[in-house]
Amino acid sequence: MKIIIEKDYESLSTTAANIIKEEIEKKEDLLLGLATGSTPIGTYKELIRLHKEEGLDFSKVVTFNLDEYLNIPYTNPNSYHYFMEENLFKHINIPKDNIHIPDGNAEDVEKFCREYDKKIEDCGGIDLQILGIGENGHIAFNEPDDELYLGTHITGLTESTIKANSRFFDSIDEVPKEAITMGIGSIMKSKKILLLANGEKKAPVICELLKQEKVSTRIPASLLLLHPDVVVILDELAAKNYLKEI
Ligand code: GLP
Repeated sequence: MKIIIEKDYESLSTTAANIIKEEIEKKEDLLLGLATGSTPIGTYKELIRLHKEEGLDFSKVVTFNLDEYLNIPYTNPNSYHYFMEENLFKHINIPKDNIHIPDGNAEDVEKFCREYDKKIEDCGGIDLQILGIGENGHIAFNEPDDELYLGTHITGLTESTIKANSRFFDSIDEVPKEAITMGIGSIMKSKKILLLANGEKKAPVICELLKQEKVSTRIPASLLLLHPDVVVILDELAAKNYLKEI
């Protein structure tokens, strides 16, 4: 696990975007796994700038998003479809057909989940996966539990995640209680993983993770310790507790 600590959110975002840029330049048809949440917004902004000002080309890039709420209209600004369109896709030259986001409104969601993993495999597997992390250690919507699913699946959200995500909704009652998410197996199959975390709220879970002492399904992100190519990019606030320990 390579750890990069940046001074602030802005430099974290620039560093992350530059790593993505290098990977696209190495492989123009990169299979890029994307995350939502507030963490990657700055990275996406910088990717948009790199596209507009430096000609970074997304015309052959293929994307697969990690997750989506269940039964949420895609016109709802809190849906991850809406989020991706607004924060990235509408500003870059990626063809619509190259974009994949779990369909929380599919007629047969179970079938959709099976097909999503198959599609990723058929496309050659994810080259670079971007990840945020929940305050409780969740990645995508793989919540702390006794067991974790490997493939894309439907999952309930924990109270802690519902509470954390309610900041985007008018009231906590509006936060969907279920979601589709790639599983831990789908994520671990990625060739390279970029985990981003900023802000003080993430400091305790980041400290636990970076001690690199043990893996636990109670901290789903800790499973990343078993992956051979993970880069963690933090700002100083998220790294605070970790820096005190070392
Ligand atoms: C959400 C998403 C995750 C995201 C995490 C952290 O629930 N499903 O993919 O990484 O929570 O979100 P944020 O970046 O807003 O802190």
